[in-house]
Amino acid sequence: MTLEIKNLTVEVEGTQIIRNISLALEPGKILALMGPNGSGKSTLANVLAGHPKYTITQGQIFLDGKEITSLKPDERAKAGLFLSFQYPPSLPGITIGKFLRAAVNAQREAQGEKPHSVVEFHSILKEAVTSLQLNSEFIRRYLNHGFSGGEKKKMEVLQLLLLRPRYIVLDETDSGLDVDAIRIVAEGIRHLQKMTQSGILIITHYSKFLEILPPDTVAVLSKGDIVAVGNYELAQKIEEDGFGSIVKEGEHK
Ligand SMILES: Nc1ncnc2c1ncn2[C@@H]1O[C@H](COP(=O)(O)OP(=O)(O)O)[C@@H](O)[C@H]1O
Ligand SMILES: [Mg+2]
Repeated sequence: MTLEIKNLTVEVEGTQIIRNISLALEPGKILALMGPNGSGKSTLANVLAGHPKYTITQGQIFLDGKEITSLKPDERAKAGLFLSFQYPPSLPGITIGKFLRAAVNAQREAQGEKPHSVVEFHSILKEAVTSLQLNSEFIRRYLNHGFSGGEKKKMEVLQLLLLRPRYIVLDETDSGLDVDAIRIVAEGIRHLQKMTQSGILIITHYSKFLEILPPDTVAVLSKGDIVAVGNYELAQKIEEDGFGSIVKEGEHK
């Protein structure tokens, strides 16, 4: 059981953004991907999501042994992969409650389970909403419409709590959040991981997030190359010293 990225090279509009990278993430583990701005972190997240703008020129992606390199985004989601976005889209006209029930029931159907009734679903939803310290009115609002940064992120975690994917990719889920919101979101994710043993790829700049969700492995990306791999101590070293020395050493390899 692994989310495996093998010798992946990615281009956008003819420019190579990621070069020959390999990474592996097992269920129950946390892999932190760090690196300076523009190093290709979001590109990797988008490629994992199956975004059509990115061209894989070399390499493969496997989900529990099944190759997903050329699957469509919804097929990846059904296979157990959840992607969050640095800038989630807004969908006016669709309430959160409706959206989530449709998403959960689509997943249940794909797994051959009976859809939840409205009543059943709402009791499950209420529990998740309360655990994120969101107001119960929240589920009647339109999806991502007029949301604050913190509300968008909590919406993502709400989806995670309900969909319980095996693998999760969080692209700067902590960006734009105040300290209290970072803690609530990170604790929500930690609670989920304890329940479901999900494998989590965290893209972040913030040590606060990693203090609550300590990574088993830390990989550093620079200019599309993995320049360092280590444990949580590597993230702490980056917090203290910045990327400078790590990126330089990596380039001399
Ligand atoms: N859609 C795109 N078109 C052109 N260039 C892109 C596109 N997406 C990303 N890039 C370029 O790829 C590089 C990596 O970007 P990105 O993956 O967003 O980095 P990060 O998330 O690490 O900050 C940057 O130089 C960026 O300008
Ligand atoms: Mg990014």
